[in-house]
Amino acid sequence: MPEYKVGPADIFADDERRIVACDDKEIGIFKLDGEFYGWHNLCPHQGGPVCTGRVMSRVLEIADAEGCTRGQQYDDSQKHIVCPWHGYEFSIKTGSHPGNARVRLRPADVFVREGQVYVRL
Ligand code: FES
Repeated sequence: MPEYKVGPADIFADDERRIVACDDKEIGIFKLDGEFYGWHNLCPHQGGPVCTGRVMSRVLEIADAEGCTRGQQYDDSQKHIVCPWHGYEFSIKTGSHPGNARVRLRPADVFVREGQVYVRL
């Protein structure tokens, strides 16, 4: 499996994202809560550049006992990436769509070795 050296891990701030080229593939690298996550920059919906999208907290729909909506609120404990083409959202930590766990981003193995960030495909 080929490995691609990205650079020093300490230049990534928390909540930072970088898109890197690994031969003919683009990989989105995210640092969140001190951990690195990597996803192919290819949306499972129609192939949009999902990793370039807006990062935001998960939006929760609040419902009453009858199931009627009573507004929305942000869940800051979960960060999502929003595909810029049609707005599909994915968890940065799991790659899953919040409404359908079978719709997922394709993972890339991102790891730190001797202070350097690498991608392995
Ligand atoms: S291509 Fe990403 S939401 Fe459609």
